[in-house]
Order: sequence, then structure tokens, then C-alpha cells
Amino acid sequence: MAWYNGVHRRQERLKEGALSVTESTIEETKKQMRMQAQGAMALNVAFIGVVNGLFETVCRLGSPMADEIAQNLTLDRGYVMRWADAAFAFGFLDREGERFRLTEKGDLMRPSHPQTLMPVAVGSVLSTHMADRAAELMHTGERPGEKVLGERKNILPWFGAMLEANFSGLFEREICPSLSVFKEIDRKGGTVVDLGCGNGWYLRSLARRCSGIRGIGLDGFEENIRRATQLAREQGLSDRLEFRVGDIKTFAHGGPVDMIAMNRALHHVWDEKETVFRILRDHLAKNGAVVIWEPAWPENPVDLREPRKRPLAVQNLGEHVQGNHLLRPEEIAEAFREAGMTPEIHLFSEGAEAVVVGRIA
Ligand SMILES: C[S@@+](CC[C@H](N)C(=O)[O-])C[C@H]1O[C@@H](n2cnc3c(N)ncnc32)[C@H](O)[C@@H]1O
Repeated sequence: MAWYNGVHRRQERLKEGALSVTESTIEETKKQMRMQAQGAMALNVAFIGVVNGLFETVCRLGSPMADEIAQNLTLDRGYVMRWADAAFAFGFLDREGERFRLTEKGDLMRPSHPQTLMPVAVGSVLSTHMADRAAELMHTGERPGEKVLGERKNILPWFGAMLEANFSGLFEREICPSLSVFKEIDRKGGTVVDLGCGNGWYLRSLARRCSGIRGIGLDGFEENIRRATQLAREQGLSDRLEFRVGDIKTFAHGGPVDMIAMNRALHHVWDEKETVFRILRDHLAKNGAVVIWEPAWPENPVDLREPRKRPLAVQNLGEHVQGNHLLRPEEIAEAFREAGMTPEIHLFSEGAEAVVVGRIA
């Protein structure tokens, strides 16, 4: 009760104007933090709706009752009713009596919406998972590696779709049109290899844009290759795209390759960067290019305060758990130079994303 009384007294005095500037700033900060906590709650509610198909089902059924949603998805009625209340509270659903309908915000949470906000919800719960793991592992210094991603069976299947939804728009709208390397590959055609291809979205996007290319995607995770192969088939691209399970550190291909891409994969194999850059250089055709896309860890840590770069610091904590760390674009450029290649750094998303293009010097 003492705590309650303390807060209550403070609120009364604040109303009377009896608190100092510092005290009223503290009140304001508390209010802001509570609102931020509500933002996290909203994303938790959205996450449940995404991974259990609730948003898509409400959309399909129009204005169902919670019972109908539960029946349709063979989920427990009690849980669905509580979820619907929470989704209503946070503005994802509107309600009329017992019936629910998607709001505009709820509609944007549908994974099949072209502008879906699904990655924000999945990313938020992934951050929470990583924060919990980091808090525990900080006691021992253990870094269990990438298997940590698989510890949440609801998150893993959404990982590829989350990356695709987060980055394919940036690639298609800004990166592709502004870098000459993509115009060259479109003009010349040839073989493009994507190392650490995930669900294969990058090769699919490139193959749609450049009709003269053939693509080979490599990933160490079998499930990614299965999914990449399936999506290429569904999109009518399987005659030009092939996906294989394999390790980037031992990649070998019979002939020269016109373009080698690595998206958010280099920091996973940075511990063997000399081997990886030798493989990249040795496989590259004479006028080819290696195109490496990574989150751009800033040179100056003060930049981490910039809203667009703040998430990098949280990602890097999660990368630490996985045994990795984010890279400064200049470190990548230096690795190209050491391998006898000439790098060019291009920054996007207010400097939070780097594409480093390397060519044989
Ligand atoms: C952050 S994901 C990026 C996936 C994809 N490039 C994208 O942009 O959506 C990193 C990928 O690299 C793969 N990977 C990590 N280390 C690898 C290795 N040694 N060999 C092959 N794939 C690897 C992971 O399985 C994962 O799919």
C-alpha cells in the first residue's frame, strides 16, 4: 500500500503544481514508458493473430463471431475469445455485439497483404525471445549459436517471410534501380549465386526483373531450401532458379559466376572471412561482381541513437547470442581489398543498410 500511496500523493501534488521540474519530468517519462509498453502489448496480440492465421480468417469470414473463428481454425474457443477482446482493445478488430471485423490496422497485419505489417509483430516477439536469452546467458558468457532461433517453434517458420516482407520492397524500389551492377546483369544475363539465400526471395525478385539470368541459391538450413524451391515453383520460376543445401564456407561451382550475392549472410560466416572472400573471388567471372548486403553497424556509436539505427543495437545483442556480430561497411570493404578486389559502399535507409559491391581489381 505504501507504494500506491506514494504515487497517489505525487499525482496530487503534480496536479497542484507543487512538484519540481525534475519530478514532473519523471512523471512524463513514466507515462511515455507505459505507452511504449502498450505498443509492445499490441504487437504481442498481433503476433498471435499472425502465426495462428486469425487476421486472415477474420478477413475471409467477413464479420465472424469468436466461435466461428475458433471452429474455422480448429482452435480453442476460450483462447480465441480472449484474443478477440485484446485485438479489439488495441484496434485490430472492430466489434458489433458478438461479431468482429478487421480494422484497417488489423487488415495490415494479414501476412498476405501487399504492405503487410507482419514482420513488425514477428520481429517484436523475436526481440523479446532474444532479450530473455541474453539476460540468462550474460551470467555464463555462453553463445549457443543460431539454434536459438529454433527455440520458438512459432517464430522460425515466419523468419523467411519476415525478411522478405521487410527488405524486398527496399530492394525493388531503391537498391536495384540505383546500382549499376543490376543494370549490367540485366543486360548481360548469366549466372547469379545467392549464398545464404533463406527463402530465396532475392533470386526470385531478380529473376522476375532480369529475364536472362539463371540463379543458384545455397543455404545451410534444409527447411529454407525446401521453402525456396516451393516458392520458385509456385511463381513459375523453377526453370531458371535452383536451390541447394550447402555450406557457404565450402561453396564450389563448376564455372565462373557473373554475380554472387550475400544478403544478411556474411556476418554469419565472418569468423572465416579469409576463406569466404577467397571463394567469392575465385568463383567470379572477369567482369562479374560480388554484392554484399548487410545491416550497417555505425562507425560512431553515438549514431545508434538515431531512430533508424536503434534497432541495430538490439539486433546485435541477438547476433551475440548467435555467435555473430554486425559489421561496419568499411570492414567489409577492407575484406574485399585484402582479397584483391575493389569495393564500393552504398548506403540506404538513412545509413542503416549497406550494400558493398566488390569487383576484381
Ligand atoms: C539472416 S538470414 C538471410 C536470408 C536471406 N539471404 C534473406 O536476405 O532473406 C541468413 C541466412 O544465412 C544462412 N546461413 C548462415 N550460415 C550459413 C552457412 N555457413 N552456410 C550456408 N548458409 C548459411 C542461414 O541459414 C540463413 O538462411
